[in-house]
Amino acid sequence: MKTSRTAVLVKPDGLQRGLIGEIISRFERKGLKLVGLKMLRMDDQQLDQWYSEHREKAFFRDLKTFMGSMPIVAMVWEGIDAVPVVRLLVGTTLGRQAEGGSIRGDFGMSQQMNLIHASSSNEDAQREIEIVFGKDELFHYHGVTEAVIYAEGEVEPSEDDS
Ligand code: CMP
Repeated sequence: MKTSRTAVLVKPDGLQRGLIGEIISRFERKGLKLVGLKMLRMDDQQLDQWYSEHREKAFFRDLKTFMGSMPIVAMVWEGIDAVPVVRLLVGTTLGRQAEGGSIRGDFGMSQQMNLIHASSSNEDAQREIEIVFGKDELFHYHGVTEAVIYAEGEVEPSEDDS
């Protein structure tokens, strides 16, 4: 199978709670590969693009204010089925209902302050990655542990791997 990529944001509350390392560690231990990482403060235009599907929602303005209030940490993770795998690790939107063992289930109580964002589809991932990352900020490399994370032949080699 081919690998794919997904976008993750650790939101301002995740930064303030000191959860950056914990979150990265969970994705690393799962066997996902980190291919992009940066800290930034999202501007108005980036937030409008990022949350375009929520433009008409009552919480849109508060969400934008919250997300633009502080820096966030953006990441791109790669693996087979990266989008659903990361969403499982993240948990459902409302922290107090999220499954124990997930990031929101273990650390969150809120709907808005839910620590982390994860792309909901491959199309969203592509769109979100382009909002935050330039092409030269995303990497292709061979992960030496892949030989024990996947069975031989399970991952189709990509032309970009070196
Ligand atoms: P996420 O799913 O990452 O992207 C949309 C965000 O909107 C969501 O996380 C929450 O942070 C926020 N959100 C969703 N529903 C509500 C709500 N009812 N009230 C406030 N914020 C919300």
